[in-house]
Amino acid sequence: MPVKSLKFRLTMPVKRLDDGTGETIRVLEVDGYNTPTFDMVLQNQEEEFRSIPTWKIKPGDIFICAYPKAGTHWLWEVTSMLVNQSADRVKLIKETSMLEGVSQKNFDNVVCPRVLNTHLPLRLLPKDTLKMNSKILFVQRNPKDICVSYYNHHKKVLEYEYDGKFENYVNRFLEGHVDYGSWFDYTLEWEKVIKDNKGYPIHVMSYEDMKTDSIGEITKISEFLGLKTDPTLIREIAEKCEFSNMKKEKDPLENSAEWKDGKPGMYRKGQIGDWKNWFTVAQNEHFDAIFAKKMKDSSFTYRFG
Ligand code: A3P
Repeated sequence: MPVKSLKFRLTMPVKRLDDGTGETIRVLEVDGYNTPTFDMVLQNQEEEFRSIPTWKIKPGDIFICAYPKAGTHWLWEVTSMLVNQSADRVKLIKETSMLEGVSQKNFDNVVCPRVLNTHLPLRLLPKDTLKMNSKILFVQRNPKDICVSYYNHHKKVLEYEYDGKFENYVNRFLEGHVDYGSWFDYTLEWEKVIKDNKGYPIHVMSYEDMKTDSIGEITKISEFLGLKTDPTLIREIAEKCEFSNMKKEKDPLENSAEWKDGKPGMYRKGQIGDWKNWFTVAQNEHFDAIFAKKMKDSSFTYRFG
């Protein structure tokens, strides 16, 4: 699958993540960490990425931290509206304030109060993040739905040059042969950060709770952020950020050149339990066995359907 007109493509050292089947996902490796390539928007991505720990945090910065496909776009939109105290559609896409996807210059220029977002672990974020007491929303989603969503993402975003089969993907996901690495490592690393920093303002929440009680969950976020919590505004935000409304109004803001067949696919299905349409019984049992082993010491819980 040739990738056309990728502006900065030739200047970057890329790697193809093979899972042993011959199918590959194209990423940028920086000091052993695999990040997506942002060929279309970022020059000198490697240097920019490496410098993130030195970037300056501003008072009042808010971070949305989530493994890919946990609902980052949704939570960014909700949080931006809360911070703006308005249910008007945010005219930007969340990638404009995604740490690993912007330059330091653009990061510095994000309008304050900044609603930042990232899929990186804390150890790769700006060093002062905790020192500055930046509020963190940590968003979780059950990893089977994440796996399906990430598969579709990899297939549709051209820069990955990936055209693999789902039957091979579950293992790839479980073994972490994807950009941002293993979901297990990511999740357990954040759990440790939370345990080691008792009392730090981290709000742990889930995609599933947002789906079943968005008004209740948005109210909790508003209270966590110390904002005025007006029930009418909360209701309006929940409605504006409902899946079909976001898909209709945000898809046109995406750069269609980044997507297969020119069709943005960030808002795909937006449901709990779609994994049941994808996993075979054997894949599900294998997933459960690995999950039980890797998460045995974790106190996080997940709703799979
Ligand atoms: P699906 O592929 O299962 O549909 P992220 O923003 O972290 O990349 O996550 C993307 C996932 O969140 C996709 O899941 C997408 O459809 C879903 N999503 C985005 N906006 C949503 C919304 N407003 N309500 C529910 N799900 C949403």
